[in-house]
Amino acid sequence: MLQWRELYEECSKCHKCILGENRTNMVFGDGNPKAKIMFIGEAPGADEDRLGLPFVGRGGQLLTKALTALDLQRNRDYYICNVCKCRPENNRTPREEEAEACLPYLRNQVALVKPKMIVCLGATAMTYVMGKDFKITRDRGKWIERKGYHIMAIFHPAAIFRDESKKVLFWEDLKIVKQKYLSL
Ligand code: URA
Repeated sequence: MLQWRELYEECSKCHKCILGENRTNMVFGDGNPKAKIMFIGEAPGADEDRLGLPFVGRGGQLLTKALTALDLQRNRDYYICNVCKCRPENNRTPREEEAEACLPYLRNQVALVKPKMIVCLGATAMTYVMGKDFKITRDRGKWIERKGYHIMAIFHPAAIFRDESKKVLFWEDLKIVKQKYLSL
């Protein structure tokens, strides 16, 4: 297992998959590296690739706003990163080999943060963190416990823009996250 600096450097120079060829910036992660909550998304979008920070685009801003309303702040209460550290062109879903190439970095981040709770944002993060048997529409909002981590998935914030009806469930799930946060 690498420590933060070495891990960051390793990711910065990574060319294990094609995404490394096309990035502007590698998007490592952000927030409190000692936080109780770790949010995991899919992969950077255009804004994230440009700025080198996760969840700063439209979806990210929605998430940040919702979490702020629950008094959860990025620099204090959570760490946030993605399964893939580099942007897939046109924001396509990362291919399995791309996600698999990047997963050791994510596992290393989880091992360093040692969060009490892991919240997967959307189906892709859910698949790679929880497993292929989980379905976002069926299993979101439900905690599982694995290796001492409380893990749950919620809708990806970008999904709310595509389907407004998901907004209520997204919000309900975030309140479940906050409840657990207060209980641990
Ligand atoms: N979507 C993600 O899954 N991650 C980001 O960092 C931005 C958008």
